[in-house]
Amino acid sequence: MSDSHELSRRDFIKVTTGIVGGLIGAVIGLPAIYYLIDPALREGGKEAWIPIGKFDDMQVGTPYSFSFTRVQVNGWERTASSFGGYAVRKSDSPDDLLILNSRCTHLACTVNWSAEANAYLCPCHDAAFDIEGAVLSGPPPHDLFVFDQHRLTEDGIIEIFFKEG
Ligand code: FES
Repeated sequence: MSDSHELSRRDFIKVTTGIVGGLIGAVIGLPAIYYLIDPALREGGKEAWIPIGKFDDMQVGTPYSFSFTRVQVNGWERTASSFGGYAVRKSDSPDDLLILNSRCTHLACTVNWSAEANAYLCPCHDAAFDIEGAVLSGPPPHDLFVFDQHRLTEDGIIEIFFKEG
């Protein structure tokens, strides 16, 4: 009889120790697990308004060069990508801006504005685009891409809407 009583006390201590140990493990372990998997659950910003320059600094008829970098977070991996373009101001109205992506539509080299040639020139395969991004010569299959949404902030800054991909 005494043996059975002794055994059940032992079992009680085992069970209690197991429960308390489990609770302590959960209190310590869950935040640690969350900390480890949290980056995998987060997504990098895929779209944003990007400031590209002051509207007053953009001269009518002269392409205004801009560039920016976006960091994409994919789990534990962070990838920085550079983008750029030209804002072509056509009048005093901020609505009258053409904002071109400077990535060549052939194989994605960066085109550069040449005032002398009055064209964007691609150094990779000698392509040329006119001031509004239309193909003049070379292998590109189509005109330069356009950032089709922009806005003027209260501080006079032009921002473009950038969407990844
Ligand atoms: S990448 Fe521009 S012409 Fe080939």
